[in-house]
Amino acid sequence: MQQTLQYIESNKERYLKEVAEFLRIPSVSSQPNRKGEVLRCSQWVANQFKAIGMENVSIAPTAGHPVVYADWLHAPGKPTILLYGHYDVQPEDPVNEWKSPPFEASVREGKLFARGSADDKGQVFIHLKAIEAVLKNEGKLPLNLKVIIEGEEEVGSPNLDAFVSANKKKLAADVVLISDTSMFAHGVPTICYGLRGLAYCEIEVTGPNTDLHSGVFGGSVHNPIQALSEIIASLHDKNGRVTIPGFYDDVLKLSKAERNSFAKLPFKDSQYAKFLGVKELYGEKGFTTLERRWARPTLECNGIWGGYTGEGAKTVLPGKAYAKISMRLVPNQSAEKIATLFGKHIKKIAPKTVQVKVTYLHGGEAAITPIDSPGVRAAVIALEKGFGKKPLYQREGGSIPIVTNFKKILGLDTVLLGFGLPDENAHAPNEFISLDNFFGGIKTSAHYYYEYSTIAK
Ligand code: BES
Ligand code: ZN
Repeated sequence: MQQTLQYIESNKERYLKEVAEFLRIPSVSSQPNRKGEVLRCSQWVANQFKAIGMENVSIAPTAGHPVVYADWLHAPGKPTILLYGHYDVQPEDPVNEWKSPPFEASVREGKLFARGSADDKGQVFIHLKAIEAVLKNEGKLPLNLKVIIEGEEEVGSPNLDAFVSANKKKLAADVVLISDTSMFAHGVPTICYGLRGLAYCEIEVTGPNTDLHSGVFGGSVHNPIQALSEIIASLHDKNGRVTIPGFYDDVLKLSKAERNSFAKLPFKDSQYAKFLGVKELYGEKGFTTLERRWARPTLECNGIWGGYTGEGAKTVLPGKAYAKISMRLVPNQSAEKIATLFGKHIKKIAPKTVQVKVTYLHGGEAAITPIDSPGVRAAVIALEKGFGKKPLYQREGGSIPIVTNFKKILGLDTVLLGFGLPDENAHAPNEFISLDNFFGGIKTSAHYYYEYSTIAK
């Protein structure tokens, strides 16, 4: 192991050069015109796995973007890790707000900037290099390793369940390992044990059968943008609670013990508000900020459009208006059920002056992973060795829909060993991964393979 760690130390420059190649590929899974780039990215990942000595590397086509598979199975009698990650990224817009181009890796102030640097290419790369370092220096891995890196996580993994179900035997393992979450803060290694679920819907509001002159017709028809705004505004009450009937029915209440453990974390509302640039925070009354972010369901408008949004003024009363609404879910809530409640409610409250159509785009369930498992015990030791500090435990507000399905389909628990940071700008301009976490992550991951192989015999 000493030699492996030494090797990682002396290869830092090369890692930065190589990860830049990965980050240069604009593998935006949601944009049809980027389909070729997403495919190219899957090939880059597959080639890397081959180059570092992984075997049975394949690029499995799906109804959408392909899944890259690789394995190394030469440790009979030793446990098997199924490593999961994603090579797709979110769109880069608004591109003008990036200080360096989104698909050119740029190192400044101890941070590596680029779309995907943290979510999740950088963290996939961390494992690529950890595996490479161990195979190169030790000649073998201390356990069996299977890897799937998918290209559709950022669009809700629509084809991954089918892939996993069709490959149950091939993917059989003892634990799932995912590096696609964040640490509590810089210098604070963290084990994440909970993620929220998601139900994502789009609303289309139709008013008059065509765009109209807003002077000639204004005053005689309900403007669809106004109607939509009224609908959206009504979805929260004055206590910040979602008004959809039944929305909270299945919510699993937070235990006293968990509320206490959240409260013990070093977190200050005032600092957090300052960091976000807001005068005051907002959210459901009766819960702390961390509770609201990690363990309470929420509803957000992600985008709203209609009418004229170009430069200058155009007097128009639009025929249509749209909004994208996501609801973050907590354990025990069903994404399908919430999406149905949402659709019914929107139809019910829509004024007669307009027509509404609600489409359910995608969803996934919340996840809680056990913390008294061999997988997590190994993570505690690996993080301590990699970062020199005992980790703390937290939940997160984001979603990785496949986590609950790994449990349902393969019967496997997941360990969330994340190397991102809360201020990493994921899904936003100027995304970065801190170099400390990038290199510390490579070391921690190498440690993890060893720790898990001894703990989980
Ligand atoms: N890596 C994130 C999830 C995440 C981020 C978890 C930070 C915890 C902390 C993941 O790639 C992501 O963004 N997922 C989407 C899922 C959705 C599109 C189904 C999300 O949460 O919006
Ligand atoms: Zn991610």
